[in-house]
Amino acid sequence: MTHAGDASLIILAAGQGSRMNSDLPKVLHELGGQPLFAHALATGNALGPSRVVLVAGHGAEAVTKAAKSLDEEIEVVLQSEQLGTAHAVEQAREALAGVAGDVIVLYGDTPFIRPETLEAMREARSGGADVVILGFEAADPKRYGRLVMEGSDLLRIVEYKDATEDERAITLCNSGVLAADAATLFDLISAVGNENASGEYYLTDVVAVARSRGLRAAAVTCDEGETLGINTRAELAAAEAQLQAMKRAEALENGVTLTAPETVFFAADTFVGRDSVIEPHVVFGPGVTVESGARIRAFSHLEGCHVSQGAVIGPYARLRPGAELAENVKVGNFVEIKNAEIAAGAKVNHLSYIGDATIGEASNIGAGTITCNYDGVFKHRTTIGSHVFVGSNTMLVAPVAIGDGAMTATGTVVTSDVEAGAMVIGRSPQLVKPGFATRFFEKLRALKAEQKGK
Ligand code: UD1
Ligand code: CA
Repeated sequence: MTHAGDASLIILAAGQGSRMNSDLPKVLHELGGQPLFAHALATGNALGPSRVVLVAGHGAEAVTKAAKSLDEEIEVVLQSEQLGTAHAVEQAREALAGVAGDVIVLYGDTPFIRPETLEAMREARSGGADVVILGFEAADPKRYGRLVMEGSDLLRIVEYKDATEDERAITLCNSGVLAADAATLFDLISAVGNENASGEYYLTDVVAVARSRGLRAAAVTCDEGETLGINTRAELAAAEAQLQAMKRAEALENGVTLTAPETVFFAADTFVGRDSVIEPHVVFGPGVTVESGARIRAFSHLEGCHVSQGAVIGPYARLRPGAELAENVKVGNFVEIKNAEIAAGAKVNHLSYIGDATIGEASNIGAGTITCNYDGVFKHRTTIGSHVFVGSNTMLVAPVAIGDGAMTATGTVVTSDVEAGAMVIGRSPQLVKPGFATRFFEKLRALKAEQKGK
């Protein structure tokens, strides 16, 4: 780790992404269960930035909402017309006025840059380069900007459209990631014009401007895979496959058993502890933490939840946001749990819906139990104590509470609170009519025979 001082982030996310063929702004398409821009943000956040500015344009309202829901502190600035990458960075000038330290520019559509790569750029800055560009050796340089080097000095970046044949032969390309002192960067940007083949304000031009002012520019390189930008749905699908491969490898590396790794789908932020077992066909949405030694059985779907040590989930279970499961909890087949805390050793094993609830230690929730949490307008809570035995097919009409050690009879509709240690029965008494069924069916069969005879 270097200590290069404060850093702020600028994430460029104003482009339309027309090749996605979508009404949704490109950076809101999901990768690993998160909007595309969240990946660049997570990489940048690893540096502990003092400020984060997102430059939005197309679909700015939706982009702003998504950004704020990830992190209230993100400042969103508007680039109403997309006049080029330098113009995009220019939009952050006011937001970052007077901010000390470096600025790191990232693209919202480039999800795989590693924090270590940004660290290497910070080191190059500490080593005396005023502007640091992240470059890569391109297998097929296509239309990327080319880095024109002289020894270890970066002289300028030339965009493909403006490049000569000789310059196009260069294979060292621009990823788009840049690091520079904030004040210096905005100074340089002021000098960038748009007289080029695209008529755009190129951020890449700051390199030549810096050189003309006697400043130093340098390039740090990374693997081409890191610089992969998303422009089409096919690229998004390929990126998802790459992310899944990375997450599966990481889980295996961390001591997680994946019976059939290729069938398990992670979110970018999924955490699974050591010695957990993930059976085939498990899907993780965002915000899941599974502690060590848990088992997630086949065909389960988890999002926004926490599973503690020794818990067993599934097969065919669904854990939704706010499901908080303590040690050794058991959740079985066709059980849905939402916004509910389930204490240690409690069991919800079959065919149940538990929503907006608290279940105490070692309680047993019988098959088919439903917390009726919604009255059509409001949601209400169900509170179940510890060591409670909830009989099969109990309807818990919330708000309702059941005391410790209480019991509900099978088929009971619980509409008011039950005290500790009590037994509640809410069903019609059983009535038996001897011989009734035999007589009833004899009568029906006789009737049918009579109709046939006509
Ligand atoms: C840019 C670089 C090029 C580099 C390539 C890597 C410039 C001039 N060129 O080219 O050297 O090899 O990226 O992918 O910088 N954006 C805005 N507002 C704008 C323009 C762009 O927010 O006005 C955003 C886009 O949404 C995108 C990113 O900046 O996320 C890059 O823009 P794009 O138009 O894709 O740049 P390239 O032409 O690919
Ligand atoms: Ca691009």
